[in-house]
Amino acid sequence: MAKIILNEVKNDYYIILFTIYFIGLTNPEDVDFVLKNCLEKADVATLLRKAIGNAGIFAPVSIWTRRRKILIPAFSPKIINSFMGILVNQSEELAIQLSHHKMVGTGRFAAWPFISAYTLDSVCETALGIRINYLRNPDNMFLKAASNLFSLVADRVVQIWLWPDVIYNCIPSSTEFYENLKIVYDLTDKIIQQKKEELKDVDVQLDSENVIFGQNTKKVRCFLEHLILLSKNAGGFTDVELREEVITFLLAGTDTSSIAICNTLTLLAKYPKIQEKVYREIVEVLGEADRPLEKDDLKEFKYLERVIKETLRLFPPAPILIRKVTEETKMPTGVTLPADTGIIVSVWGISRDKKYWGPDADCFDPDRFLPDRKTGLFIPFSSGPRNCIGYQYALMSVKMALIAVLRRYRVIGEEENGPAPTIDTKFNIMMKAKDNYQLALEAR
Ligand code: HEM
Ligand SMILES: *[C@@H]1O[C@H](CO)[C@@H](O)[C@H](O)[C@H]1NC(C)=O
Repeated sequence: MAKIILNEVKNDYYIILFTIYFIGLTNPEDVDFVLKNCLEKADVATLLRKAIGNAGIFAPVSIWTRRRKILIPAFSPKIINSFMGILVNQSEELAIQLSHHKMVGTGRFAAWPFISAYTLDSVCETALGIRINYLRNPDNMFLKAASNLFSLVADRVVQIWLWPDVIYNCIPSSTEFYENLKIVYDLTDKIIQQKKEELKDVDVQLDSENVIFGQNTKKVRCFLEHLILLSKNAGGFTDVELREEVITFLLAGTDTSSIAICNTLTLLAKYPKIQEKVYREIVEVLGEADRPLEKDDLKEFKYLERVIKETLRLFPPAPILIRKVTEETKMPTGVTLPADTGIIVSVWGISRDKKYWGPDADCFDPDRFLPDRKTGLFIPFSSGPRNCIGYQYALMSVKMALIAVLRRYRVIGEEENGPAPTIDTKFNIMMKAKDNYQLALEAR
């Protein structure tokens, strides 16, 4: 037993050493090379596997390859677009709940609980097909357990002495972790069995296009249903694998998107002129009346898209990426890394490098993403074969929340003194504002 602990601790120490050594790996050529060629993740990932098993996100390449192949069709544009209606409804709910809870015209409040309820609600509906309005039912067991679970994992990741199970299992929050895990697993398993029963007579071979995309039925199919149908073909997922993947969507898709939305709102409060430009675009596309958003509208929000990209560049929700080289590897710029070296890519560093983004790299300038302008390496969703599979979904969900809020309310915060914005953030895997995003809203 002692030996196992020692080994684990030793490995952790090794990663930390290399973290310090490689934290400056911000040369875009090397980073691009690593993201395309080094698909294995360093050992820190094994910790996260305790919550989500071997789901694609942290799995060893040997397992990941097959899983990614099955996930890809589930994230096709057709399926992502079919979620439009759900996201219209959820983003409208967000705007309504903000005013129901008297957050409009009443001074500053923490935006985080509202925005994270939006992303959790909408990912639950698109991933599992369940509708739980968290803000209306804050005591909902499942969402509460899911959000507790993720913050417990995040806390553990930044406290390396808690990594070995033998130590973690002795502290009180581990009990909470296992209890929450059980709630999330039990409900997910129940839903998987229900959906399998519902879908058992669907013959995928006969008519795969229509079946997969649900064109025969009015009902929009959730990710889980698509994965069950995809699983009917050889090489699909087992029940445990289904659960792992679906829970991963919750883990990978909620806090990341919430942070992106909150950071964008914060920056728009700091720069009211840019906010006015976003508002004018909304009015141009949707008109002044309350016309609900439709599928073809989204691509018209060109300025908003630049604002979101610029926000993700300056404040990437996932500021580092973790990989490792499995064999001795020569980087394009000449350094040779020995086998089994852990690599930390600093997304933050890459995004603010003056050499590639210009002397104003720290400044908030959405127009740097105009099509005719040159940019540096843009990797908030990573890149290469193991990039974020959910990035189109994420952009859609982030855009829709922002449109629903900004068309009704003006966001007010502290205006920034200069062109280089600061947000006081805390790192716990992700980079979230310490103050839970204190903002104020005024009705338009
Ligand atoms: C603004 C929001 C988001 C950001 C910034 C983001 C960012 C990332 C990053 C940096 C990675 C790691 C890639 C790597 O290691 O190279 C990742 C992976 C992943 N993301 Fe996202 N993500 C977001 C939203 C989502 C959403 C909404 C979903 C699902 C609905 C999702 C699903 C995944 C999955 C499944 C992976 C693992 C991919 C693999 O290893 O094959 N993400 N994401
Ligand atoms: C969203 O959908 C639910 C269930 O269909 C409905 O009760 C609710 O009123 C809708 N919300 C909005 C804002 O359209």
